[in-house]
Amino acid sequence: MTTELRATVHELVQKGKGILAADESGPTIAKRFKAIGVESTEENRRAWRSLLLATPGLGQYVSGIILYEETLGQRADGGDPVPQLAARQGIVPGIKVDAGKGPLALAPGDEITHGLDGLAQRLEGYKQQGARFAKWRAVYNVSGTLPSRAAIVANAEALARYAAVCQSLDVVPIVEPEVLIDGDHTQARCAEVTEDVLHEVFAALYRYGVALEHMLLKPSMVVPGKAQARQATPAEVAEQTLQVLRRTVPAAVPGINFLSGGQSPAEATANLDALNRRGPHPWQLSFSYGRALQEPAMQAWRGQAANAQLAQKALLQRAKLNSAATLGEYSASMEAAD
Ligand code: 13P
Repeated sequence: MTTELRATVHELVQKGKGILAADESGPTIAKRFKAIGVESTEENRRAWRSLLLATPGLGQYVSGIILYEETLGQRADGGDPVPQLAARQGIVPGIKVDAGKGPLALAPGDEITHGLDGLAQRLEGYKQQGARFAKWRAVYNVSGTLPSRAAIVANAEALARYAAVCQSLDVVPIVEPEVLIDGDHTQARCAEVTEDVLHEVFAALYRYGVALEHMLLKPSMVVPGKAQARQATPAEVAEQTLQVLRRTVPAAVPGINFLSGGQSPAEATANLDALNRRGPHPWQLSFSYGRALQEPAMQAWRGQAANAQLAQKALLQRAKLNSAATLGEYSASMEAAD
């Protein structure tokens, strides 16, 4: 039983490789497409996501892709179901299974992620379609008082219940607690909240009997709020992030794959590189970026099939630079190399 979980973790956590997050929900992908003047139709979403996955050589730097439910059932340009194209590229297909977030009642400013009801049945179906790992995202707004204790506890509980359901069906859970970058809070405040959040998440995972060896953590890095005047250098991001991770994440967790969360592509790569330059660490530190991998490619594409190769080239370049960052071998001069 656990053989399957072990094999999937082994394929996902490979030296020099990370995960491509391509699981934007309907409203989110519409927002990203709008920025490049593309309408969010089912066909455009299919074209975009199969273009990304069909990038020649992507499997050299990317071990897994997180898909949205709709994409899991779509066919790539050659006619293959998308999960089969992933497998051919040597990339493990995964699926976002949460049903999005909403307000936490009686806790103004806090949010809770939905989707536990019927999760086991949905997962059985996704598995038949080829998904081998899953993702659930919890979000935490930050201020002087947010998130509340109730939000921290409720989201930890939901993440742990989700992870337990996944493992009971031999699907590897990616546990994603995202401390949001929005706001003007300091890096120290982000560190405080992230430590509190991760501490609670791992306590809940323990209560529910989740095998830490068979899951991945997808956290945010410890950074100041976007509107904070005093921004942090990669060295400061690495120091603060590592301090929090060492205090809260057991060494049994095989991989930590960060989200980019609003960092620019170059920032996300430089920060990951700084983290890995301070190794060795008990866990592999890699990426599970959405925007930081897709943005330059999307700018090159702009909805035109004729731009497909340019877009793929831009994606491959970002994937390659992030791969270098997982080894602590990235330098800013590599940005201009191509
Ligand atoms: P970003 O890297 O754009 O934050 O996306 C990662 C993700 O999967 C968010 O849920």
